Amino acid sequence: MSGRFLIREAADIALGTCRLVVDAPRVAQHARPGQFVIVRATEDGERIPLTICDHDTDSGTIVLVVQDVGRTSHELCAMNEGDALADVLGPLGTATEVERFGRCVVVSGGVGTAIALPVARALTQAQNEVIAISGFRSRDQVILADEMDDAVSESIVVTEDGSIGETGMVTDVLSSVMSEVAVDRVFTVGPVPMMRAVAEMTSAASIPTVASLNPIMVDGTGMCGGCRVDVGGETLFACVDGPDFDAHAVDFDQLAARNAAYRSFEGCQLGMSDV
Ligand code: FAD
Ligand code: FES
Ligand code: MG
Repeated sequence: MSGRFLIREAADIALGTCRLVVDAPRVAQHARPGQFVIVRATEDGERIPLTICDHDTDSGTIVLVVQDVGRTSHELCAMNEGDALADVLGPLGTATEVERFGRCVVVSGGVGTAIALPVARALTQAQNEVIAISGFRSRDQVILADEMDDAVSESIVVTEDGSIGETGMVTDVLSSVMSEVAVDRVFTVGPVPMMRAVAEMTSAASIPTVASLNPIMVDGTGMCGGCRVDVGGETLFACVDGPDFDAHAVDFDQLAARNAAYRSFEGCQLGMSDV
C-alpha cells in the first residue's frame, strides 16, 4: 500500500461511476459546498480535479464520486478499500455562494449531480425551498437519487430514454417548473451544452443563475492557466475565481472549444462534457 490517503470505502454506485470514502482530515475540516480537491491516484499519475461530494469532520473523511471516463478516473474506480491515494490537495476553489434566496432550482447532468448535491443541501440548510432536477441518459447511470431526495423539497430525476423518472432533458423539466412557480435562483452543473441551455432559459426570464464550470485543471492554484474561462469579457481562472460563475456572463463557446481541443489531444470519446 502506497500513499497517505487511505480509502475507507470503495463501491460502484451506477454504471461506470464509483464512490470513494477517503481519509483526508485536513480537507474534511475546511471543506465547503462547491469546493474540490486535486487528486493523484498514484505517485507517477496525473492530477485531476474532483468535487468534495460530502465530508465528515469527526471521521476526517471526504466522499468522492468518480465517473470512469478515461485513464485516471478508471484507475480510481479500480481501487479498493484499503488502497490509498498518492495525493489529495484541497479544499480548492471558491465555495458556492449560499444565502436565503427563496425558491432555488438545482439543475444537474450526469456526474454533475455529485457536485450539485452538497450545494443543494447547503441551500436547504439556509432555509431555501430547493427543487432538484437531475438528468441522466438512462436508469443505470442514475446516481445519488436517495441522497438528493433527502436534501431538497422536491427531487426530479429525468432520463433521456425515459427508463426512470421523467422522459427528456433537464431543460424540459426546468421549463415546466418555471411555468408553474416563481424561481428566485438557479444553480447548474453538467455538460457544457446543458449549462448553456439552462443559462439561455433563465436569462430570458431574468433569474440569477450560477454555473459550476468544468475546464481542464492541472495545478488548481491559479499558476498554470489551464482552466482559464471568459466571463463577461474578463479572463478568469476557474480553479481560484470559480468554479462557480454568473452563467449569463460565461462564454460557453470558448469553454466548449477549449475542452474539445483537449479531447482531440487525448483521443478520448467520453468526458464529463459529454454526459
Ligand atoms: P481523460 O481521458 O484524461 O479525459 C476525459 C475528459 O475528462 C476530457 O475530455 C476532459 O473533458 C476531462 N478532463 C480530463 N483531464 C481533466 C483535468 N485535468 N481537469 C478537468 N477535466 C479533465 N468528475 C467526476 O467524475 N466527479 C467529480 O466530482 C468531478 N468534479 C470536478 C470538479 C471540477 C472543478 C472539474 C473542473 C472537473 C470535475 N470532474 C469530476 C471531471 C474530472 O476531473 C474528469 O472527468 C477527469 O479529470 C478525467 O480524467 P481521466 O484521465 O479519467 O480522463
Ligand atoms: Fe492551473 Fe487553474 S488549474 S490555473
Ligand atoms: Mg487523463
